[in-house]
Amino acid sequence: MAAPARTLEVDLGERSYPIYIGEDLIADPALYRPHVAASQVMIVSNETVAPLYLARVKAALEGFRVAEVVLPDGEIYKDLVTWNRIFDALLEHRFGRDCTLVALGGGVIGDMAGFAAACYQRGVDFIQVPTTLLAQVDSSVGGKTGVNHAAGKNMIGAFHQPRAVIADTSTLSTLPERELAAGLAEVVKYGLIRDADFFDWIEQHRLQLLARDAAALSEAVERSCLSKAEIVAADERESGQRALLNLGHTFGHAIETGAGYGNWLHGEAVAAGMVMAAEMSHRLGWLDADATARIASLLRGFDLPIDPPPLSGADGWLELMAVDKKVQNGVIRLVLLRAIGHAVVSSDFAVDQLRDAIAAAIGEAGERPVG
Ligand code: NAD
Ligand code: GLY
Repeated sequence: MAAPARTLEVDLGERSYPIYIGEDLIADPALYRPHVAASQVMIVSNETVAPLYLARVKAALEGFRVAEVVLPDGEIYKDLVTWNRIFDALLEHRFGRDCTLVALGGGVIGDMAGFAAACYQRGVDFIQVPTTLLAQVDSSVGGKTGVNHAAGKNMIGAFHQPRAVIADTSTLSTLPERELAAGLAEVVKYGLIRDADFFDWIEQHRLQLLARDAAALSEAVERSCLSKAEIVAADERESGQRALLNLGHTFGHAIETGAGYGNWLHGEAVAAGMVMAAEMSHRLGWLDADATARIASLLRGFDLPIDPPPLSGADGWLELMAVDKKVQNGVIRLVLLRAIGHAVVSSDFAVDQLRDAIAAAIGEAGERPVG
């Protein structure tokens, strides 16, 4: 058993918690035990991840009363109906208010198990054990939990912080390539929003990251989690800077909802959305052409799709984008870029400018994307 290579802290007063990052952590009892309040532990996983890792997590929890619920795999199941199966399992096993949930899987499982923990008997503890790159660098940290609605991504949910995050980077060895790339999109996001040096580092380590070089991946996870932990500690409920973490997401959520959940991976939609945000920023005169091109080129270099789907045209896009948690008084607010490493939340644009940017990006009316 390896000790965590690095332990970070999300500093939220009495709700602070550690993020353990390193190889071969998933089966280490010492990482779970301090964060399990009583005897009952419900592991929530899915049909893909459970055969790979459930036995090792159960072994780490030997001595506790452990049960599991294995959900079907896919974004399409991140809904209230599937979510209810977690409560069926908790009640079937007569689990009480002092039970602990363990979310074993990617962001879909983490969001659903976390939301179940927020609601079961008005709130129980949970531990995040993220097994995708995306979940290790983003979704397992920060306490956003929830499920999708047919009309909009993550529209139903709660803030509920985990007791600990155990990010075992060796689990990334079994991740399909497309999922690895989707996670890399969220890594690039941290460079874009607040850390130009990190963006440079990602450009320089592109091939190592794609080759799953252990040192490169663990540095990417650590630097991303450091950023996320700082942002969440400063603005847990997203009244300010946390919204910057949504770079590319207003466009991206429109893609995910409009194309049908699961057709575009979340990270893929965010990649295309970040390119759209960069192009919009360029149109507004905020981001220079070189930076706009660099962003598209890095994401393309990770084999991420950067050309958005037409969906039902620019007006249809605007309707989808209006179902966004950043909308205030009916006004769409976007995360835009002043430079690589400098993002801002803004509604300082006309709807027609946004419509034009979308039309150009989707090739409507013969327009071509910038960059
Ligand atoms: P995911 O959870 O669907 O996982 C991707 C795929 O990889 C799934 O098929 C899964 O079964 C499989 N998988 C997971 N771990 C594996 C492993 N180690 N080896 C092999 N296969 C493995 O997708 P994701 O990209 O992890 O998460 C996307 C979700 O996260 C979206 O629903 C998104 O809205 C949410 N999200 C939430 C936050 C947040 O702050 N809560 C942030 C970003 C994204
Ligand atoms: N992924 C966005 C957030 O955690 O705020």
